[in-house]
Amino acid sequence: MARKAKAKAKPARKPAKKILAAKKKPAPKKLTVLKVNPNQKKFILGEERIPKTWYNITADLPKALPPVLHPGTLKPVGPDDLAPLFPMALIMQEVSQDRQVAIPEPVRDIYRMWRPTPLYRAHALEKALGTTAKIYYKYEGVSPAGSHKPNTAVAQAFYNKQEGVTKLVTETGAGQWGSSLAMAGAMFGIDVKVYMVKVSFNQKPYRRALMETYGARCVASPSDETNAGRQILAADPNSNSSLGIAISEAVEVAATNPDTKYALGSVLNHVLLHQTVIGTEAIEQMAMADAYPDIIVGCTGGGSNFAGLTFPFIGAQLRGGKKVRVIAAEPAACPSLTRGRYAYDFGDTSHMTPLVKMHTLGSTFMPPGFHAGGLRYHGMAPLVSHLKELGLIEAEAYTQNDCFAAGVLFARHEGIVPAPEANHAVRGAINAALDAKAKGTSPTILFGLCGHGHFDMQAYMDYTAGKLEDRAYDQRMLDESLAGLPKIAAE
Ligand SMILES: Cc1ncc(COP(=O)(O)O)c(C=O)c1O
Repeated sequence: MARKAKAKAKPARKPAKKILAAKKKPAPKKLTVLKVNPNQKKFILGEERIPKTWYNITADLPKALPPVLHPGTLKPVGPDDLAPLFPMALIMQEVSQDRQVAIPEPVRDIYRMWRPTPLYRAHALEKALGTTAKIYYKYEGVSPAGSHKPNTAVAQAFYNKQEGVTKLVTETGAGQWGSSLAMAGAMFGIDVKVYMVKVSFNQKPYRRALMETYGARCVASPSDETNAGRQILAADPNSNSSLGIAISEAVEVAATNPDTKYALGSVLNHVLLHQTVIGTEAIEQMAMADAYPDIIVGCTGGGSNFAGLTFPFIGAQLRGGKKVRVIAAEPAACPSLTRGRYAYDFGDTSHMTPLVKMHTLGSTFMPPGFHAGGLRYHGMAPLVSHLKELGLIEAEAYTQNDCFAAGVLFARHEGIVPAPEANHAVRGAINAALDAKAKGTSPTILFGLCGHGHFDMQAYMDYTAGKLEDRAYDQRMLDESLAGLPKIAAE
């Protein structure tokens, strides 16, 4: 009874001044400092931490991206020019200036199958190198298709389905993109046709089988199904092909069939946008590791996995955050960023696409048939090229034997066999770690391990047998190809 009476009694009124003072200075909370286990190998986020938005770096750029031009009028293209190829939702993302773009719930729901992807600390590799650097890697090979490509394939299939599209056509180099779009098409009930670069078609029959398992049709490019393919075959029946040629075939099919739209696995702004889930997760995982990268390395074919990992960090830097050194790792046999020209060029070999300002080797450049099929593209994403021009990123080129040596060392210590494309990032990270060792510095290095190499074992067998050639770079061929660049007055 006495207790009840006490509880009902009115508390004595505090003087107003004291209440305000108490409100101004909240009592300091006791902080529990959670120490990160220095031996922790992987940093895992729960499904609820899958980002709710994609990050659009155009909102933070100090200088606007040059416009995409219509090849006939040489005037900036408008949404209607692109409508035969892409659904309007993707065209709007291509030109969006919003910093954050909401990820539709059905897309996040499919992401849940493999996202968030793990971030690893490469303790064993660090020890093997005897480096003073700390090495982390973000692994995208846990997706069903084995790389980062489903991050955009699922989004693109979703927006096409929303617009009632029933058929999609695309090209593929390594087969990773083709398998990813085939999978996404199966999930959304869309027919998918893939033109696969002939050298990869022959090197990787199991990638083709994977696409067919998902229900897609896979055709070796150049094919006799399109005007573009027939022209290339007439000039060179044994053409190894390139991504530029396969793109021409796919674009032609979409442009001449009103029921079919085109999907691209890299290069375009909206594709890079979809990949930023990688870097957004990585920022949170690096914080879990109580770390922040000094150096970030990603491999570059068209630039999408590189952009996906690095743009959220570069964006943070542009908004006043810590400066990071960002390195794009490309093949010496197809070196668009290190040896190409920054100019307006076509995205494909038969000149059916609009003109984009990018680092290019010339749209007729034919890279040799080396084993990183996903990196055999003559151009680079306009956004990645623009950042290089602004001095926000650097680029390095490596030979394929050096890259496979790095991949084999990585596999023997970290267990994962990287895709040949990803070996370029492994090489870049190892070089940075060895450089730190030589200088006695201890930077934190983060690199993108964008895919596994389980369908690429022929390439590893060729490497082990000493069959991989590092061809001397043909400057004459490059000069010829660059001489054919379109002449744009305002460049
Ligand atoms: C595993 C892998 N990494 C990288 C790439 C290169 O593409 P991007 O530069 O757009 O990431 C490809 C392309 O097919 C790929 O399959």
